[in-house]
Amino acid sequence: NKFTAIVLAAGSGKRMEQEIPKQYMRLGDAPLMVHCLRTFQESKVTQIVLVVAPGDVEKCRKEIIERYHITKCVAIVEGGEERYNSVYAGLQAINDGYVLIHDCARAFVSIDVIHRCMSAVTLYESCVVGMPTKDTVKLTDDHRKVLDTPDRSNVWIVQTPQCFEYNLIRGAYDKVIASADTSITDDAMIVEKATDHDVHMIPGSYMNIKVTTPEDIAFGEAILRNKH
Ligand code: C5P
Repeated sequence: NKFTAIVLAAGSGKRMEQEIPKQYMRLGDAPLMVHCLRTFQESKVTQIVLVVAPGDVEKCRKEIIERYHITKCVAIVEGGEERYNSVYAGLQAINDGYVLIHDCARAFVSIDVIHRCMSAVTLYESCVVGMPTKDTVKLTDDHRKVLDTPDRSNVWIVQTPQCFEYNLIRGAYDKVIASADTSITDDAMIVEKATDHDVHMIPGSYMNIKVTTPEDIAFGEAILRNKH
């Protein structure tokens, strides 16, 4: 079986309040995006497709892929305006097998989680990594009036990788992109909306955080120190 990691690094990282986009920010000994690339490189995935911001392809080839010896990287493609445009660009670079779609901002994804994803996706064809919520979750209306408190034992916080059989996710993306639906925040939603295929939840890790706002940097440095 062929497994392709599609690593997304085409965001603008506005919530980080930094001059340089967060995927290039240094964390420990390397730019943020290098951490998950190294983990995919060491894992059993077959190949990596890296999606970067328009204009960044050559810079990433030299300063990221060559410099950090990410030899499994078979393509660097330009992403788009929204995350789902970037994913779609990544999907167009390949044509079969299984895909693990991963946000490079989740720098601390472990090899164990990646290997769990690879087994699960061959079984379920569609699965996402997540963790049970530690907090009680409430749904509100637009005026912040609380509408509902879902049973916490069935509420999961979703992470990446999100993993699919290629034709399933490609077909679902083709449909949703054509419909110009802009409410999409993750890949599983696309399968939920455009197909009748079930999406399976698999346990990730509480360390698989998304580096998003400045306070996440301190958590990130601590996770790295722990790892070494
Ligand atoms: O902005 P957010 O943290 O939700 O982005 C999640 C991931 O998607 C990041 O790794 C970011 O680089 C990527 N992204 C992208 N293209 C976009 C927006 C986000 O590749 N247009």
